[in-house]
Amino acid sequence: MFVNSFVALIGLWALSVGAAPSFYPRDSGNGTCRKTKVAILGGGVAGITAAQALTNQSITDFLIVEYNGDIGGRMVHTPFGADQAGNPYTVELGANWIQGLGTEGGPENPIWTFGKKYNISNTYSDYESILTYNETGAVDFTNLIGDFETAWTDFEQAAGTILTENLQDRSFRAGLSQAGWKPKKNMAAQAAEWWEWDFETSYPPDESSFVFGITGYNLSFYQFSDENNFVTDQRGFNHWLKSIASTFLTANDTRLLLDTIVTDVHYSDTGVLVTTEDGSCIEADYAICTFSLGVLQNDDAVTFHPEFPEWKDTSIATFQIGTYTKIFFQFNETFWDPDTQFFLYASPTTRGYYPVWQSLSTEGFHPDSNIIFATVVGREAYRIEAQSDDETKAEALEVLAQMFPDVDIPEPTAFLYPRWSTTPWSYGSYSNWPVGTTLETHQNLRANIGRLYFAGEHTSTEYFGFLHGAWFEGREAGQRIAGVIAKDAEYGANSTCKNEAGCGDHVKYEVLHGTTELYEYNALNGMGADPFYVAGS
Ligand SMILES: Cc1cc2nc3c(=O)[nH]c(=O)nc-3n(C[C@H](O)[C@H](O)[C@H](O)COP(=O)(O)OP(=O)(O)OC[C@H]3O[C@@H](n4cnc5c(N)ncnc54)[C@H](O)[C@@H]3O)c2cc1C
Ligand SMILES: *[C@@H]1O[C@H](CO)[C@@H](O)[C@H](O)[C@H]1NC(C)=O
Ligand SMILES: *[C@@H]1O[C@H](CO)[C@@H](O)[C@H](O)[C@H]1NC(C)=O
Ligand SMILES: *[C@@H]1O[C@H](CO)[C@@H](O)[C@H](O)[C@H]1NC(C)=O
Ligand SMILES: *[C@@H]1O[C@H](CO)[C@@H](O)[C@H](O)[C@H]1NC(C)=O
Ligand SMILES: *[C@@H]1O[C@H](CO)[C@@H](O)[C@H](O)[C@H]1NC(C)=O
Ligand SMILES: *[C@@H]1O[C@H](CO)[C@@H](O)[C@H](O)[C@H]1NC(C)=O
Ligand SMILES: *[C@@H]1O[C@H](CO)[C@@H](O)[C@H](O)[C@H]1NC(C)=O
Ligand SMILES: *[C@@H]1O[C@H](CO)[C@@H](O)[C@H](O)[C@H]1NC(C)=O
Repeated sequence: MFVNSFVALIGLWALSVGAAPSFYPRDSGNGTCRKTKVAILGGGVAGITAAQALTNQSITDFLIVEYNGDIGGRMVHTPFGADQAGNPYTVELGANWIQGLGTEGGPENPIWTFGKKYNISNTYSDYESILTYNETGAVDFTNLIGDFETAWTDFEQAAGTILTENLQDRSFRAGLSQAGWKPKKNMAAQAAEWWEWDFETSYPPDESSFVFGITGYNLSFYQFSDENNFVTDQRGFNHWLKSIASTFLTANDTRLLLDTIVTDVHYSDTGVLVTTEDGSCIEADYAICTFSLGVLQNDDAVTFHPEFPEWKDTSIATFQIGTYTKIFFQFNETFWDPDTQFFLYASPTTRGYYPVWQSLSTEGFHPDSNIIFATVVGREAYRIEAQSDDETKAEALEVLAQMFPDVDIPEPTAFLYPRWSTTPWSYGSYSNWPVGTTLETHQNLRANIGRLYFAGEHTSTEYFGFLHGAWFEGREAGQRIAGVIAKDAEYGANSTCKNEAGCGDHVKYEVLHGTTELYEYNALNGMGADPFYVAGS
């Protein structure tokens, strides 16, 4: 019964699109679909920012549809352990750092701007504050970290040459090798490499783009600044986003649909019909899909009708989303050096095996909390996410026992880790640029199909993987649609479009070229900023 009327609904809607825009389908429950100008799918950084951009352009007729019971998306926290008074600490399961802050007079990372505005507690991550270990205990291989950084000043220029001379991309591994960095079977060198590369991108150098890896690094850490600040705010990192949302959404605003799971999206050149798991539907003039690349790649998540065209499908299949897993421990004592931030472990057999341990029991974080967390990524993260808490705890405690042979490692009093690769509203942590593809392929990930637009960290050419990437892309999608709505309303030449890349349709590439020409690094392809800009120089 339900299925039949639902099929009828979709059929009628399909007939209606492109024909009579005044015809509205009936839903299977109690009347008509809820109607709106813009349906914003997802209430993470991109979705909330898109809503603010629309509000700024006087478009208030939108709906935000969010899977979870709260906004924030991958910027999400949880209570963990307890302090002396028995109150839990707040730890971040997802985004944790503001990455690249800004310099006096130079461009500023918007997340840093909001962090200051809303007084988000954070501390500079001092990557020099590191001790190194292997299976025999403390061994100093920080010189290898130094060697890698020396090679960086060489290979970043080689990547710049690829960009300016329209050369073919290669793997980050190839770039490293050509600059003389060859860790081979040296496990300490592999640990140093993991610390410098995989820790940021959640992919090994072998599977990462050389030219876009360096370009992305340049745009956050040279354009803004090379600082990473770690957030310890007990209200949660997403407090800034909630504060912004509260400037245009009232308490219980009926435009924010929480705990609402999108199952199907029908799109065309004239509108978008969104259906949700509770059987209701939304009919929108436009939609912005901010679901992660993992959700877009997963056949069991959201179904799009019609199936995506080849150019879109290829880009979704080509780009990759990693897994980044933080494993939190609270002990009854701080048995590691409380004045050091990072502890790097080189497993004798397995690259990336519980490699980085980070103390929160340190001044500026949560002093005397006795909390430390390990980070694993990629294949090790998949492996660990598939095992039980007890199995993982046993492996991790064995690593700590190797690192600190003189310590009788106590049982943790609290233990917790998320499983991002199987989280049904994310299916992964954040995107990474694969080897040997082009700006055009990435632009196809951003480009709209009819009135269905896309935004999120993964659509950011400049800042993929970062919170600020999600923010810029959410703003751009909101402005782009506001611009086209203004044009529709016959403001024509006076369109309120304040978008450097324009309003309405994105460029897209049905035929892809093998390399990226220098002139293609422009705002139309999402690359308005200058990858050679260095703050303060
Ligand atoms: C472990 C981890 C560590 C990270 N570390 C950092 C960091 O330190 N610094 C940094 O800058 N960035 C970091 N990131 C990346 C950062 O979190 C993301 O770039 C950013 O939060 C993505 O925002 P978004 O709006 O694009 O996507 P999301 O936050 O994923 O928002 C999309 C929203 O869509 C919703 N949704 C999904 N499916 C459905 C559905 N079917 N129906 C309805 N709603 C749905 C989701 O619930 C979600 O709220 C990290 C991410 C992770 C996971
Ligand atoms: C909306 O306008 C406010 C006030 O000018 C500005 O601070 C904010 O950044 C704008 N937001 C977006 C997403 O454009
Ligand atoms: C900002 O946060 C700090 C530390 O959490 C606190 O001491 C301070 O009072 C806060 N300031 C404002 C203006 O809220
Ligand atoms: C990155 O920045 C460095 C330092 O300015 C520069 O030498 C290099 O060419 C840049 N690389 C890319 C790919 O933009
Ligand atoms: C919002 O909803 C909550 C829970 O449903 C309720 O307790 C609260 O009074 C509502 N607030 C407003 C302003 O309506
Ligand atoms: C039924 O109608 C009410 C009021 O219009 C609406 O809030 C609700 O979502 C509808 N339910 C379904 C299943 O469409
Ligand atoms: C670990 O360090 C010890 C002490 O320097 C060294 O003898 C041993 O070979 C190292 N292990 C590996 C796998 O390199
Ligand atoms: C922590 O617990 C262990 C037993 O697991 C115990 O030996 C040790 O003394 C405790 N440390 C503190 C500071 O209480
Ligand atoms: C557009 O702007 C011009 C110049 O400011 C003005 O003369 C004209 O009336 C405007 N048109 C509309 C449709 O607002």
